[in-house]
Amino acid sequence: MMNLKTLRNTALVLVTAVVLAGCKAGGDNPGLEYAPNMYHSVAYEPYSQITDEDAGRWLTSIDYDDGHAEFFNSNTLNPHRMNMRLPAPRTVSRNYMPYHIPKDSLEMAAKIPSPLTGDEKAILADGKVLYEIYCDHCHGAKGEADGKVATGVVVDGVERGLYAGVANLKGDAYKDITEGHIFHVITMGKGLMMPHGSQISPEDRWKIARYVKSLQK
Ligand code: HEC
Repeated sequence: MMNLKTLRNTALVLVTAVVLAGCKAGGDNPGLEYAPNMYHSVAYEPYSQITDEDAGRWLTSIDYDDGHAEFFNSNTLNPHRMNMRLPAPRTVSRNYMPYHIPKDSLEMAAKIPSPLTGDEKAILADGKVLYEIYCDHCHGAKGEADGKVATGVVVDGVERGLYAGVANLKGDAYKDITEGHIFHVITMGKGLMMPHGSQISPEDRWKIARYVKSLQK
């Protein structure tokens, strides 16, 4: 017969051992989980598929229709039982604005009105920041073609820019260009100016266009 004290000590050792066993974790071993239902979501987990139907059998208390155990997390209706599927063909991502006007159709592009609505001040504030990042070094802070890249380099005694022929956006030739025109030039480039369509999101391009118009006033 074990006396009470030994029983208590044995219980203490056992409890301590179980608690400490839970501390052992590393690599793929998450350690002992005391409330696994809290870690293993019942919803389909797109990034952590569990294909083993018997995973978590020891815990299973519900009779799942397809006979799997607690941790099983795979969508049996999908190919390869994937939880996440590829988007359907021709799916368009949110906020994507299709733009298929060819580079040489500037006149057509110029007729497109800006889709930006709402807080004018906020649009111009964003436009200014973006202009300073993407345009200022050539076109200058006020659009007068006096950016760092466009001026100040002396070659054979003649002052000229590294980047020749930058347009003075305040010049008469550009006074009446529309936001659609500016959007198109930013997107596709024109003449000596390279396109910026791949660097700047469509929304940001429209913001810059609005800001350029405000510079011209
Ligand atoms: C590397 C220098 C450079 C950068 C950066 C640059 N541009 Fe230009 N831009 C030019 C040059 C050069 C021209 C003249 C193109 C030509 O007619 O050959 C030009 C022309 C333009 C024109 C006139 C287009 C027309 O109808 O003739 C606009 C509008 C314009 N740029 C806007 C912008 C905006 C907005 C940005 C910033 C997103 C920008 N540019 C960035 C060099 C630059």
